[in-house]
Amino acid sequence: MVLSIMRGLFTHDIAIDLGTANTLVYQSGGGIVFNEPTVIAVKDERGGRRMIAIGQEAKAMLGRTPPGIEAIRPLCDGVIADFDVAEELIKIVMGKSLKRRGLSSARVIITVPSGATEVERRAIREATENAGARRVYLIEEPVAAAIGADLPVTEPIASMVVDIGGGTTEVAVISLGGIVSSQCIRIGGNAMDAAIISHMRRAHNLHIGENNAEEIKISIGSACFPKNGEPRRMRVKGRDLVSGVPREQEVEEGEIVGSLAEPLGAIVEAVKTTLEHTVPELAADMVERGMVLTGGGGLLPNLDEVLSYATGLPTTVATDPLICGAMGAGRTLERIGKLKHMLVH
Ligand SMILES: Nc1ncnc2c1ncn2[C@@H]1O[C@H](COP(=O)(O)OP(=O)(O)OP(=O)(O)O)[C@@H](O)[C@H]1O
Ligand SMILES: [Mg+2]
Repeated sequence: MVLSIMRGLFTHDIAIDLGTANTLVYQSGGGIVFNEPTVIAVKDERGGRRMIAIGQEAKAMLGRTPPGIEAIRPLCDGVIADFDVAEELIKIVMGKSLKRRGLSSARVIITVPSGATEVERRAIREATENAGARRVYLIEEPVAAAIGADLPVTEPIASMVVDIGGGTTEVAVISLGGIVSSQCIRIGGNAMDAAIISHMRRAHNLHIGENNAEEIKISIGSACFPKNGEPRRMRVKGRDLVSGVPREQEVEEGEIVGSLAEPLGAIVEAVKTTLEHTVPELAADMVERGMVLTGGGGLLPNLDEVLSYATGLPTTVATDPLICGAMGAGRTLERIGKLKHMLVH
């Protein structure tokens, strides 16, 4: 025990959960050492682009930059959309996490969506290698999330995880360390934000930005209509589509619930399809053990209830859904000898 803690303290191993919305780094022996939005702001300069902000600071710049400055999300739907910026981001988070330790000696495990193509996986591996990792391992995101949520993934029991991130929702049934059946759809928190933006346009003639839409979702969003009591309300600022002038509008919980019906319907369908493809022995386990929600989308109020109603299975939200992927990838790296079979080759 003491030996393994000591070993953890002195290794340069890190796990990176490179998500569409958030990037987290788990350091062996140190826990979560980096947790910021996956956004980089760059400035055009003679001779190329220069990074001027990262994470929360860069996210606040989205949609607010003057010409010459750009706030970029290098990932789209869980996979790399801008290779150079993604590589820069990985380099920065590795540098921050390893501080003055030798970068070249780091072993890095990094998450990839289960639905990523061979080419997309290679891009993530290459970006991490170019960023200075000595050895790169890939782990499928739902597997990492399930380990982070403390599910007994290596046992001959079905563990079902529904990881709802910013860009993707990944549903997986895992047994004996492998994915038995899974679905990966490119719908997650960003699609919910987009649905709110389009609702505000249609219903209120108001144009709002993505950060505003996310704020509405987190403040008054829910997966089902309020049953009793006063619905939650909030005031939203945007630009009037007709007059072009900025104005404020009051919105109410019920209309936001209505606007989320489409992306949530797709998530429910993905869960049902995965269940349909599961062999009867494992289906029997699931009746008893149900599914666990991870990823930030799992925090949407009442989503567990809706999924439980739609499938008839018990549904719970992981204790800390936003960090499950990074925790699970980190634990895998710490026991790489035993868990190697769980990696993507
Ligand atoms: N309380 C909340 N209610 C609803 N949604 C939330 C809440 N908190 C965070 N989210 C959403 O969770 C999403 C981010 O989750 P997460 O960090 O798990 O995604 P990610 O891992 O970066 O994305 P992906 O796995 O798709 O690449 C965002 O869309 C965010 O708006
Ligand atoms: Mg994720």
